[in-house]
Amino acid sequence: MNKGGLGNRVGDLRQEIVGIDQPVPLLDGTSRPYVYLDNAASTPTFRGVQDKVNEFLTWYSSIHRGTGFKSLVASQAYDTAREIVAEFVGADPTNDVVVFGKNTTEAVNKLANRFSFQPDDMILATLMEHHSNDLPWRGRCRLEYVEVLADGSLDWEDYERKLIRWKGKIRLVTTTGAANVTGYLPPIYQMARFAHEHGALILVDAAQLAPHRRIQMGTPGSPDRLDFVALSAHKMYAPFGTGALIGPRAFFANGPPDTRGGGTIEIVSLEEVFWADPPDRDEAGSPNVVGAVALAASISILKRVGVEVLAEHETALTRYTLERMGQIPGLRIFGSSVPLCAQDRLGVIAFQLEGIPHAKVAAILGYEGGIGVRSGCFCAHPYVLRLLGTNPAEYERFKQRVLAHDRSTLPGLIRASFGCYNNIEDVDRLLDWLDRIRRGETRGEYELHVPSGAYRPRQFAANPTDYFSLR
Ligand SMILES: Cc1ncc(COP(=O)(O)O)c(C=O)c1O
Repeated sequence: MNKGGLGNRVGDLRQEIVGIDQPVPLLDGTSRPYVYLDNAASTPTFRGVQDKVNEFLTWYSSIHRGTGFKSLVASQAYDTAREIVAEFVGADPTNDVVVFGKNTTEAVNKLANRFSFQPDDMILATLMEHHSNDLPWRGRCRLEYVEVLADGSLDWEDYERKLIRWKGKIRLVTTTGAANVTGYLPPIYQMARFAHEHGALILVDAAQLAPHRRIQMGTPGSPDRLDFVALSAHKMYAPFGTGALIGPRAFFANGPPDTRGGGTIEIVSLEEVFWADPPDRDEAGSPNVVGAVALAASISILKRVGVEVLAEHETALTRYTLERMGQIPGLRIFGSSVPLCAQDRLGVIAFQLEGIPHAKVAAILGYEGGIGVRSGCFCAHPYVLRLLGTNPAEYERFKQRVLAHDRSTLPGLIRASFGCYNNIEDVDRLLDWLDRIRRGETRGEYELHVPSGAYRPRQFAANPTDYFSLR
């Protein structure tokens, strides 16, 4: 692969990242520029977002209910942020509304709370969901899951079978737009079409999808329309505590909000309450205006570069990584590992190194390589345990230990996930360190911390508060 070409195309974007190449301390007492490969968890901040937030803070004020010029400026910024988010997901401005909240988790909980279920209603989720798009639905009505295949992809036949079997009962299909473990991209528009044909709406949890691929909710009534979309700004280079739930205004105009308080009403007496129109009805309390500004600023940058350009870059990086990982003995990738199919997945790569605990690999990468990854089950226990082929007896053993505060034997994977600014040098460093770990060429003596399951080196001297302190 042409390293120079790839590097040059994203070179400018790399300079957009706050804290890029920040030196971090290593076990041997030296320091190195950090390589961050945990973007699926949270991305760093775009410099343009930081600048826009700083500019806005001069004008920051209470919105809507405040008077004075700063309130006017802040209110129009907040309203414009809504429009920018709606455009970004291809929502229909005449039909849809953007409800701001904390993150995707809050968005999914809101949707789950706002649905009024009848006794026979059902929800159809998939087995690849993050807990945030699984747990909010549990206990609300009957919840069924679509199976996944051995490579972690959706079992389309099972999807069809279940929608046909429970036609008219399934009110909502809820699916991730991109799996946070395997990077798999479910065919969301095809899923939407089939859901609609069988009388169900669809929610796409776009926490992982939004920073990487174009989303087109589409016009109401079109067969492949996405009815609801949820996303998080901290995965989109704007970590200021905002997320959004986008869906039909008519849906949110129906029924009381799940969270009640200031800003949610038209008028209140001691006897009665008249709820405000959407989106105010569903945004109780003072909103996170700075977060909304940050998200909108980030979207503007993503659009300026072009989501397709970012996807192309990520595909090239993923293809290269899969090719090279395939050459490391004992490295097993979970999910699609075919380099030529890299365009059909995200650069979220989960793997194991034979014979070395996942948490130990992650620790060595961090303490000795200065590389940030993640290990474990990534808030997707059912999916990861399915990928690992864990049987019920094994699960029972893990469960007993975890409940006794021992996570030392909990299985898991290591995950490297790319942001739009990562380059081939980042990948090479990861691969180099994986090879060293495999060959046992590491320095540290690691202790297992049983309650957390994390490995910590005995000799690490650096103190985080020497690098950033609030006191
Ligand atoms: C697919 C998916 N859905 C939902 C979430 C939850 O996002 P948040 O923590 O921002 O609410 C995540 C977070 O990793 C995710 O990957």
